[in-house]
Amino acid sequence: MKKIIRYVLLFLLFAFVVIQFINRPEKISEPVTDTDIILALNVDQEISEMLKSACYDCHSNQPRYPWYASVAPINWWISDHIEEGRGELNFSLWSTFSARKRDHKLEEVIELVEAREMPLPNYVPLHKEADLSDEQIAALVKWAKSVRADIANEPASE
Ligand code: HEC
Repeated sequence: MKKIIRYVLLFLLFAFVVIQFINRPEKISEPVTDTDIILALNVDQEISEMLKSACYDCHSNQPRYPWYASVAPINWWISDHIEEGRGELNFSLWSTFSARKRDHKLEEVIELVEAREMPLPNYVPLHKEADLSDEQIAALVKWAKSVRADIANEPASE
């Protein structure tokens, strides 16, 4: 019996080492451009800090990667989140979106942040700076509503 356990542990260790070499997802790191929501809308510091610390790891072209993001299988899981999050909403490309899309995304932001579904709940315990207080959530929601009002006042183009 003991022998079997030893073989199983050895096998797991071997498998852990082997998976470090397969399919290493590329880390995203692109320069900030003026299509970024913070630059495009000249977002104030309070809100931009919040976006950067609570949302940009999955919704921008500048995610920060913790050290464990280099270790398989965690790296696959993290890069899936980043890919999925950026696919839904990439704040770095904000000004390239139509008014309709920007408005709809902000509607979702308000809904998900108020429900504490964003940032992703499993992300928060490891990222204290993303653990938004009720006041921060209220400020973020107020900001998102004001941006929606600005979008409604844009001259219709699309
Ligand atoms: C750890 C990664 C992660 C973080 C951090 C994160 N998100 Fe997300 N977000 C996702 C993923 C993955 C999805 C897509 C799947 C889903 O909707 O659950 C998503 C979806 C969304 C959507 C839905 C877009 C749509 O059109 O359906 C919005 C809006 C959103 N996030 C806003 C935010 C905001 C605002 C923050 C910061 C307060 C944030 N997210 C932080 C991973 C993240």
